[in-house]
Amino acid sequence: MLKLYYRLYQFAFRIIVALIPYHFPQVIAKENATLEVAAVVLHRLKRSRVLLVTDAQLTKLNLYGPMLEHLRAEGVQVTVFDKTHVNPTIENIEEALTIYHQNKCQAIIAFGGGSPIDCAKGVAARVARPRKSLRQMKGVLGVLRKIPPVIAVPTTSGTGSETTLAAVITNHHTHEKYAISDPALFPLYAILDPLLTKSTPAHITATTGMDAMTHAIEAFIGQSNTKETRSLAIKAVQTIFEHLPRVHRDPSDLQSRAHMQHAAFWAGKAFTVAYVGNVHAIAHTMGGFYNTPHGLANAVLLPKVLRYYGQAVHQSLAELSDVVGLTKPHLSHAEKAQTFITAIEQLNLTLQISTRISGIQDEDIPKMARNAYAEANPLYPVPVIFTHRDFEAIIHSVRAEA
Ligand SMILES: NC(=O)c1ccc[n+]([C@@H]2O[C@H](COP(=O)([O-])OP(=O)(O)OC[C@H]3O[C@@H](n4cnc5c(N)ncnc54)[C@H](O)[C@@H]3O)[C@@H](O)[C@H]2O)c1
Ligand SMILES: [Fe+2]
Repeated sequence: MLKLYYRLYQFAFRIIVALIPYHFPQVIAKENATLEVAAVVLHRLKRSRVLLVTDAQLTKLNLYGPMLEHLRAEGVQVTVFDKTHVNPTIENIEEALTIYHQNKCQAIIAFGGGSPIDCAKGVAARVARPRKSLRQMKGVLGVLRKIPPVIAVPTTSGTGSETTLAAVITNHHTHEKYAISDPALFPLYAILDPLLTKSTPAHITATTGMDAMTHAIEAFIGQSNTKETRSLAIKAVQTIFEHLPRVHRDPSDLQSRAHMQHAAFWAGKAFTVAYVGNVHAIAHTMGGFYNTPHGLANAVLLPKVLRYYGQAVHQSLAELSDVVGLTKPHLSHAEKAQTFITAIEQLNLTLQISTRISGIQDEDIPKMARNAYAEANPLYPVPVIFTHRDFEAIIHSVRAEA
């Protein structure tokens, strides 16, 4: 009965989503694209004071140095907030919000991986909704008001946050990690400069790339995909299979870096319309409890969850298996799906990603299962609606022995 209600809810949402105009960002994609940001701020947005939201590691690497110098030389007043944590917190956002107001900022440049980009979106949401807490904006359509312009400059090729309507936020007091999803949160611009991802350490390249893979696959196998999201997901899966091992092997391969940026972007677009699924629901609760890197959790969970789905995903995974060129035509859907899941496991192995997640405490698992269940239902149009027990079984299966 409950499952029927969830499916009806998802059906209603499909209709609503079809009626909402989605404004995906304008893209500037090329080497040194960051040097175009000043012109975007001054001439297209007609603003002159911006908050740059980033993290301390990127400051240390001086990754945004050339862009900052250029912005200031062109007369843009830039205030830098670089205290974003991995898995950004409510405190990060509130602190950055104060700085935004103190400096009378008019726009935000979100520079970094998904963490700074989501922190920036959180700030923008709070600017638009000063009387609503982040907690109150949790879930879907909690913002519904124009935010200040956000220019997203991703430095990982993974989350796709530069093109999604979501900001994922952690309350580290309650261990809760949740998304605020609202069409108001689309960045206005996405700056895809492959030079920025060259410095990404191999394990972050690997796990963030698998985050993008998970977005594409969860969107593809879900029940709310459209012709367009299917085609975006297929392009992303093909590209990631081809180019992720290359950038992992050779970090300076700029062509493959650029392909990965596009793949993450396509996968982000696909899941913005078609949603993610149970893999993400579990990955988020792990991030909330143990600060587990998002991409790592997804990479480890993805093959486990796909196997657990069984027959419900055979046809869709068989299709992916075909487009990636893994299987021969005479095989059954079940055989093709198994081949595809094995290829994901093999890719994880090539990328030196473990098969387990450390730090999971047995006593936390029931609460994590409840969180994952509450995140997935009724919203995510997953191929199989998991029970609490299913979630617990999967979390147990990836738990590393202490
Ligand atoms: N909003 C969305 O649609 C969406 C989608 C998926 C995930 N997320 C969220 O995004 C967050 C994860 O983002 P992420 O995986 O991109 O990682 P991240 O932003 O947390 O960064 C991970 C680490 O990599 C470093 N790093 C980033 N770019 C680098 C570079 N070019 N060179 C060297 N180091 C670099 C960072 O400094 C940080 O230490 C999670 O909170 C996750 O839940 C959001
Ligand atoms: Fe993700």
